Amino acid sequence: MATVFVTRDLPGGGLSRLRAEHDVEVWPERLAPGPAVLRERVAGAEGLLCLLTDTVDAGLIAAAPRLRAISNLAVGCDNVDVAAARARGIPVGHTPDVLTETTADLTLALILAVARRLPEGQAAVRAGEWLTWEPAWLLGRDVHGATLGLVGRGRIGEAVARRAEGFGMTVVHTARRSGVALADLLERADFVSLHCPLTPETRGLIDAEALARMKPTAFLVNTARGPIVDQPALARALHQGAIAGAALDVTEPEPLAPDDALLAAPNLLVLPHVGSATHATRARMADLAVDNLLAGLAGRTLPYEFAGPG
Ligand code: DGY
Repeated sequence: MATVFVTRDLPGGGLSRLRAEHDVEVWPERLAPGPAVLRERVAGAEGLLCLLTDTVDAGLIAAAPRLRAISNLAVGCDNVDVAAARARGIPVGHTPDVLTETTADLTLALILAVARRLPEGQAAVRAGEWLTWEPAWLLGRDVHGATLGLVGRGRIGEAVARRAEGFGMTVVHTARRSGVALADLLERADFVSLHCPLTPETRGLIDAEALARMKPTAFLVNTARGPIVDQPALARALHQGAIAGAALDVTEPEPLAPDDALLAAPNLLVLPHVGSATHATRARMADLAVDNLLAGLAGRTLPYEFAGPG
């Protein structure tokens, strides 16, 4: 029986399976344990099940001499120093596949919402601004027939492409081996949707220069990671009308403070990182995270070990 720290309560039945085999402490608060508390709790642990909001850096790993397995409840592992874990022989698990379709659903929801101005329509009805049917009120952009530019066409990008083709969109993408150059994609797309991992290469990828390449009628959609977008540059582009709008499920930082300057920008829809937030998908993610941790603690190969750059 190993000592395990889980940084938040999880939906579904995964935690009961973990408790059946190990001595498990679950952080009971809604907010994440702070860095000092996390380090103190992980110091004696053999297993760690963490969230994308927990920073598992080299210092934390070094301060946990008994740690044998890390399981991240996310597909992205930019919150974990994977190289430091690997150097210690600690496998890092993640939760791909199970959230692909759900995140792709949300991406389409964001595309439709900004294109057809759904948040403004909803706000207008509630504010009593719906006076009559007007020929030129709340006009948006067509999604059918538009060009969608996918920055990254991995699992989620591919699932978004399938949906977009169903909507009659033309899909172009950047990718390592095939696809178009980013500059070309930015100039052609009516919707630019980000589906790449956050790495040193993609941090700030969508900067002022990239935004300037986009059409003034185009929209930016981000369901990947906030720091891929240079947010001050995005705010400027929206204020200047250099692009038509943006829909973000992820920001930098998270949570975004209600008085963050970005929120003053026009034509912006921001959600609180809910791409994978359905009952079924979060339960599957928790199950997979538990499967990864159980395997790691038993010295078996993880069902989904993070294979990306460490
Ligand atoms: C992930 O798993 O990386 C997602 O951002 C969570 O929805």
